[in-house]
Amino acid sequence: MSYDLVVLGGGPAGYLACERAAHEGMKVVLIEKRNVGGVCLNEGCIPSKTFLYSAKLKDGAAHGNKYGVKCKGIEIDHPAVVARKNKVVKTLTGGIASMLKGLKVEWVKAAGVIKGKGPDGYEVEADGKIYAGKRLLIATGSEAAMPPIDGLYEQFEKGFALTNREILDIEAVPKKLVVIGGGVIGLEMASYFNSAGSEVTVIEMLDQIGGPIDSDIAKLLKKNYEAKGITFKMGCKVTKIEAGAVVYEEAGKQQKAECDKTLVCIGRKANTQGIGLETIGVLTERGAVVTDERMKTNLPEVYAAGDVNGKSMLAHTAYREAEVAVNNMLGKKDIMKYNAIPGVIYTNPEVAGVGETEQSAKAKGLDVTIKKVPMQFAGRYVAENEGGNGFIKIIVDNKWNKLVGVHMITNYSSEIIWGADALVDKEMNIEAIKKIVFPHPTVSEIIREAIFQL
Ligand code: NAI
Repeated sequence: MSYDLVVLGGGPAGYLACERAAHEGMKVVLIEKRNVGGVCLNEGCIPSKTFLYSAKLKDGAAHGNKYGVKCKGIEIDHPAVVARKNKVVKTLTGGIASMLKGLKVEWVKAAGVIKGKGPDGYEVEADGKIYAGKRLLIATGSEAAMPPIDGLYEQFEKGFALTNREILDIEAVPKKLVVIGGGVIGLEMASYFNSAGSEVTVIEMLDQIGGPIDSDIAKLLKKNYEAKGITFKMGCKVTKIEAGAVVYEEAGKQQKAECDKTLVCIGRKANTQGIGLETIGVLTERGAVVTDERMKTNLPEVYAAGDVNGKSMLAHTAYREAEVAVNNMLGKKDIMKYNAIPGVIYTNPEVAGVGETEQSAKAKGLDVTIKKVPMQFAGRYVAENEGGNGFIKIIVDNKWNKLVGVHMITNYSSEIIWGADALVDKEMNIEAIKKIVFPHPTVSEIIREAIFQL
């Protein structure tokens, strides 16, 4: 069977590419062995957000007295949270399947392996059949990295060590949970399980949680979570997982953290193995498919989008990369830019940022002005956050008088950051930003406030 486009992998990059390409009249086949929606919809972004919303409601109710609301007997009913998560996932993945069907995209629910190039194009075998495409999009995503930590595989098999996939389906809240890795997944899951009643310890190898986020924000987030009862073991490397405990090195000494479950979230690796990349000679580097700014690989008409190219490993990056790939297939000029990709951690409070941080700007030697403003300057924040300690930090390039970075720790920041993203991406001049009217009262007004405080 021959197609205009064969898409390998049905996550955010894959299904969006199918949608855009089919909309433009291409005959498309999607090869996806599991459910459509990928990690994002099935075991990542969306399920974790359902968990975190329940935690947010519980935390809000627990502090109801600060707002004149009396709440008693507040607790998380974890099985109900999981059931609701499953319902949300089913609704959204069902929506994608219907959308693909409506656009006449054929979905082959089987593992696909690239077999070579034939008269009709690149050939992918799935379920014993060959699907040939004039173009091929590799969108096989990523999976949790499982480094050679002693005992990890054994304890994973026994169900003591979990990845982001398994933890979303555990039936009971562990009494003690050790989270290995204080990155995005670690912090979000630590946040939920802390609210759900677990005694949570986060073991992080570096001196900062949250990876490359602004370091003042990382410090405040850690302080807030310590106040909520999470223990952080910083600068500690996990070396072994054994039945009922995680072993780590702290200042050269071996320590043990006992727990009922441990979540391993120490990064992800691109899914490039076992899909036949070598049969056509797709170039990979450090385990990820090499792509240019048009999402093209080293081969003509072979593209790669999403986590598999290892560039940013975020669903929203994957969406845009998929669009860039399809536009280039159609001969439309479009390139991928990575300078203004927002990052969000959906903890409570949320953390969101875009562009240069204070640290990255300084490391690059940029001539910048940095302005940090407490969230108390936004009336709605004060109305809704008794004793809140959030802030915004903006980074302005002095040479061009433009905004190059915005970073915030506050509720709603996940919903505000796209606006900051637009200001950074469109390289808007500070004087022009001053003329933008923000709705009042909103938390977003803090951006305007910070600009005027420069
Ligand atoms: P990550 O790269 O964000 O964090 C992993 C952390 O583990 C790092 O801080 C690292 O220093 C630490 N680490 C590594 N080895 C260790 C060891 N042996 N002992 C102790 N600490 C160790 O990776 P994570 O959290 O697994 O997230 C994976 C991906 O999923 C990321 O690319 C992230 O962007 C994406 N994601 C995004 C979300 C969002 O946008 N809100 C939510 C969840 C995931």
